[in-house]
Amino acid sequence: MGGRRVKNMDKKLIVAIDGYSSCGKSTFARLIAKELNYIFIDSGAMYRAVTLFCMRRNYISITWLNIPGILSDLKDIHIDFVFNPDINEYETFLNSENVEKEIRSMEVTGYVSRISQIPELRARMVELQRQIGVSKGIVMDGRDIGTVVFPDADIKIFMTASVDIRAKRRHNELKNKGVIIDFEEIKRTIIARDIADENRDISPLRRADDAIILDNSRMTVEEQMLWINEIIEKKRNGS
Ligand code: DC
Repeated sequence: MGGRRVKNMDKKLIVAIDGYSSCGKSTFARLIAKELNYIFIDSGAMYRAVTLFCMRRNYISITWLNIPGILSDLKDIHIDFVFNPDINEYETFLNSENVEKEIRSMEVTGYVSRISQIPELRARMVELQRQIGVSKGIVMDGRDIGTVVFPDADIKIFMTASVDIRAKRRHNELKNKGVIIDFEEIKRTIIARDIADENRDISPLRRADDAIILDNSRMTVEEQMLWINEIIEKKRNGS
């Protein structure tokens, strides 16, 4: 019995977490990875890092997008996730530079959806994401992880929550950072991002047929962890 348990604990999984923006995907994915001692990959951070690269090379502005320039420089973009023991978290590195803070700026956030719609660029990101997942033992969050990147993932979760709740959470998060933005404005941005994510031509946000829906509108993080732990346990026991 004990032997079987150890064997099952050793079985490394790929956990794919997709869903709408501001649902707490990264927080959830990060916690699962910590609990399982797995690698956590925030695929949105990869698209953000590429966006920062493009901004620095002047390939994107409000009025232009130099796709040939971006594609010819794709080979110069190296993204790594490096564990920082001081904060007990992985941080995003672009060509050996820690860009974790910069990729969360409003400017990057404003440009990233245009950058992430370039098909050849997505193909490269998916290739990199699959390379990282080769050895399993990974939790990856994004929009197309369960549908495109790892269609054979062991566990697929699709996260959602009501727009009001997501806007409230985002509002509080920004308030804690000292940023005051009108609640209705946040709500509008969230709705606009949902529409953009669901309606883009390439890899639109879709729930994979075999993904389990997690609506966390009325759930605490602790409740979500209890919920996922049960699913992981079942998976490891082969049920
Ligand atoms: O999750 P996020 O907000 O950090 O993602 C940033 C952007 O990247 C967002 O506009 C959607 C896009 N994205 C994507 O197209 N595919 C992914 N797998 C992850 C993010």
